[in-house]
Amino acid sequence: MRVTINEIKEMKQRKEKIPMLTAYDYVTAKMVDEADVPLILVGDSLGMVMLGYESTIPVTMEEMIHHTKAVVRGAKKSLIVGDMPFMTYHVTISDALYNAARFIQEGGAQAVKLEGGEVVAEKVKRLVDCGIPVMGHIGLTPQSKHQLGGFKVRGKALEEAKKFLNDARILEEAGAFAIVLECTPAPLSRLITEMLAIPTIGIGAGPDCDGQVQVISDILGLYTDFVPKHAKQYARLAEEIKVAVSTYTAEVKSHSFPTGKNSYTMDEDVIKQLQTES
Ligand code: KIV
Repeated sequence: MRVTINEIKEMKQRKEKIPMLTAYDYVTAKMVDEADVPLILVGDSLGMVMLGYESTIPVTMEEMIHHTKAVVRGAKKSLIVGDMPFMTYHVTISDALYNAARFIQEGGAQAVKLEGGEVVAEKVKRLVDCGIPVMGHIGLTPQSKHQLGGFKVRGKALEEAKKFLNDARILEEAGAFAIVLECTPAPLSRLITEMLAIPTIGIGAGPDCDGQVQVISDILGLYTDFVPKHAKQYARLAEEIKVAVSTYTAEVKSHSFPTGKNSYTMDEDVIKQLQTES
């Protein structure tokens, strides 16, 4: 049985921490699902860690749907959240509805995430009214990179902190089932978490959020172009993969791979006949 948004909300009531990870493909989603991670985000971070873009801004709906389908094929139990790309929910409510519905209908996700607070509240309410669960996202919102002047901690100053408290309240009123807090100072994250009935899911937002989300490539040490301070590497797969690939290359060059163990045989008579005839 797949995890539901109600079960995610109940985890907060039980004070049970909520782990969430990103996944972008079938194989990884299957492993994350089998490790009993209740929430998977098909993040637009895929633009950077999978597709090699410099930011999340170029990511398209087509790319997101393609990867969401793969994740849905791999993960049978986790609740899957599709991340709405830049400008696919900003212009009109119809755009937001149309694109969110694609995640659910075509992609097979169970919820969508969009960045912003008060400014997107009307769209959040409409999506929820139409039966599409929404996860909010405030603090550092990477799709606004150019407006913000880069990837920085947000909410340290009084006015901005007040704005995030207000945004969080408004998103909850609009019907969001959870809110990502990205790169907000730990004491502010705690305040927001205590204020809300719905769960907060932090990334670089301190230990007191109801849940934590990380980019899978960061915690596995796969994406090494930029390692954020808030990410802990539980493995160093990039290094292991490089060793494996170099060993393979050396073995092919030295004729030590493949061996008989990696090859297929056929009837001796057939090959003899072929030799005679050719
Ligand atoms: O795209 C993403 O991976 C995200 C997380 C950082 C929350 O939005």
